Amino acid sequence: MDASTAPFLVRHEFLIRRLHSLSGLIPVGAYLCVHLTTNASVLGGSQIFQDNVNLIHSLGPLLPLVEWSFIFLPLIFHAVVGVMIVRSGMPNTGSYPYANNVRYTLQRATAWIALFFILYHVFHMHGWFHVEPWMENVVKPLGGGRFEPENATASAALALQPIVVRLLYAIGVLASVYHLANGIWTMGITWGVWVTPAAQKRADFICLAFGLLLSIVGLGALFGFSKVEVPEAAATQSAETPEVNAQDADEPAIEEEDASTAARVPASERQ
Ligand code: HEM
Repeated sequence: MDASTAPFLVRHEFLIRRLHSLSGLIPVGAYLCVHLTTNASVLGGSQIFQDNVNLIHSLGPLLPLVEWSFIFLPLIFHAVVGVMIVRSGMPNTGSYPYANNVRYTLQRATAWIALFFILYHVFHMHGWFHVEPWMENVVKPLGGGRFEPENATASAALALQPIVVRLLYAIGVLASVYHLANGIWTMGITWGVWVTPAAQKRADFICLAFGLLLSIVGLGALFGFSKVEVPEAAATQSAETPEVNAQDADEPAIEEEDASTAARVPASERQ
């Protein structure tokens, strides 16, 4: 087979591998850092997290465009090429049981965990597509689409209440963080940033420190949501979020005992 008849992916393998590598760091890896840090802001209090969500949602109609350009499409590209790499790669830990081989296998294992976790997480919080029949007939009955931007802290805390959900999130977050931190190390080799054994050793420490820090941030966010008093957060956010105020101006204030229901039911549907 000459170069002109070789499949597209084979002819452009070098460029595709470089784009795959780059997309793992920017924007996907950078987004993971921002996302986990935003979530961890709940440790500062319910209203701080709500304020951060409001800031993001102040992009208004531009938000889906920004999300698709800088998060979903690069992530889909990284995941599709990643699956092709994983399916063609052979783990070799059996023959060479050294740290790098274990890390090589873990990089691929965490890729699968991250893939399934991200699909689950986006369904659980967002519902994938905000189209009415899909949301009402599929997402809600299956327990998805739980996050309400106007009631951010209470709805997220409520969604994360079951212990099994918290466990799934902890595994998903740790796998994604490992994948990013170890990925930065392999990237440095792909791009010739750390070439000598001494430089790679230094990079080991930097990536380990980065991974530990981001793990603390990610798990800190989960801990923060577990400490949220849901009825209190729902009531505070209803009182302080402008969109909710405007919408609910003619409605009676939410009673304390109804607040957890308020977190489940969108403001537009409340009686
Ligand atoms: C949390 C989301 C993700 C982030 C932040 C991320 C980040 C990264 C980074 C920084 C690299 C290193 C690139 C290099 O070695 O040059 C990488 C490698 C890799 N990623 Fe991801 N990734 C994510 C999700 C995924 C998913 C969902 C898959 C597919 C199932 C995937 C598959 C791979 C594979 C196979 C590699 C190794 C490439 C190689 O060794 O040549 N990643 N990732």
